[in-house]
Amino acid sequence: MTTTITICDTCKREGWDATSGATDGERLATLVEAAAAGAPGVVTRRHSCLMGCAGACNVTLQAPGKMAYTLGRFEPSAESAEGIVAYAAGHAASPTGVVPFREWPQAVKGHFVTRHPPLG
Ligand code: FES
Repeated sequence: MTTTITICDTCKREGWDATSGATDGERLATLVEAAAAGAPGVVTRRHSCLMGCAGACNVTLQAPGKMAYTLGRFEPSAESAEGIVAYAAGHAASPTGVVPFREWPQAVKGHFVTRHPPLG
């Protein structure tokens, strides 16, 4: 089943340079999209504001019938993006969306904000 990574494209971290030409969220989105290209069971989309602004940069992981997660406090870096996508691939492969801690990429540890049980 496909896992969707939603990347907030309006996130700005503390100290964001308004003259930089892109938000931190846009930079992270571009990196996640590149990392997700060809990743099995993972798609991406952008959304403006996930209401976690103080903890930028934020992403969510969702799939029908599975546990959903919000992760935040990411820097817009390739390491972050690769960790998010690797975790999403594990989420996609898991029947419940729960990925065993021993399989978590280092880059997502300490970044979990919320989880939401599936409806129904
Ligand atoms: S701007 Fe990203 S969560 Fe609000």
